[in-house]
Amino acid sequence: SPQQLKHEKQLAAEAALRWVRSGMLLGLGSGSTAALFISQLGAAVRAGQYQIQAVATSLASEALAREAGIPLVEPRRGMRLDLTVDGADELNTELQLVKGGGGALLREKVLATAADYLLILADSTKLVPQLGRFPLPLEVVPFALPWILDAVAELEGKPVVRMSRQQPTEPARTDQGNLLVDCHFQSIPDATSLARHLQQIPGLVEHGLFLGLARAALVAQGEQVLVYTP
Ligand code: A5P
Repeated sequence: SPQQLKHEKQLAAEAALRWVRSGMLLGLGSGSTAALFISQLGAAVRAGQYQIQAVATSLASEALAREAGIPLVEPRRGMRLDLTVDGADELNTELQLVKGGGGALLREKVLATAADYLLILADSTKLVPQLGRFPLPLEVVPFALPWILDAVAELEGKPVVRMSRQQPTEPARTDQGNLLVDCHFQSIPDATSLARHLQQIPGLVEHGLFLGLARAALVAQGEQVLVYTP
């Protein structure tokens, strides 16, 4: 049920606080699970439990963090994050991820890569035996869209341009002003090879496969939180 899911997300978010130490520079993820983490972290910061700084993976998370009282900093040269905490749309036990359901995959991948430690929070529905049932999101430059749709169709991942939730006749725009294409592969048996193919398509800014990035995943199952490592 939706309440059970919300409860699982809440448990995973709570458990993630145990990875936080004072003095850390954090990456803040996007989506409903990351949002729960941001508000819990904010409460702990306000209670004086931690002194931390953070960078956010989306304008939405940045606004949430600001409301929650988390000090935000701008990206700069040489910046390494101690810990990025984010959600996922799908993950397998190797900790390969599909992300971008919320459209923030580009900044999410930037902060996943800039972090020494990527911690993923998930409810029990996110853990899958094989990736691909959740449509794989791509962020694309508008000019390149027609050719990207052709290239994805050739890879047999039925492409669908994501539409805006507020204005259903308009395409959705990312924080960077780009478009999103959701690719229905149904199953992705070899994520590494698919990622390699996608990276060769010009105008494709980023894809939602996160491979070799997550160091741990906290997956809530009922009242338990299970820790997975790759
Ligand atoms: C945002 O772009 C995504 O990558 C999110 O991490 C993902 O959609 C998970 O969102 P929920 O926590 O809301 O399921």
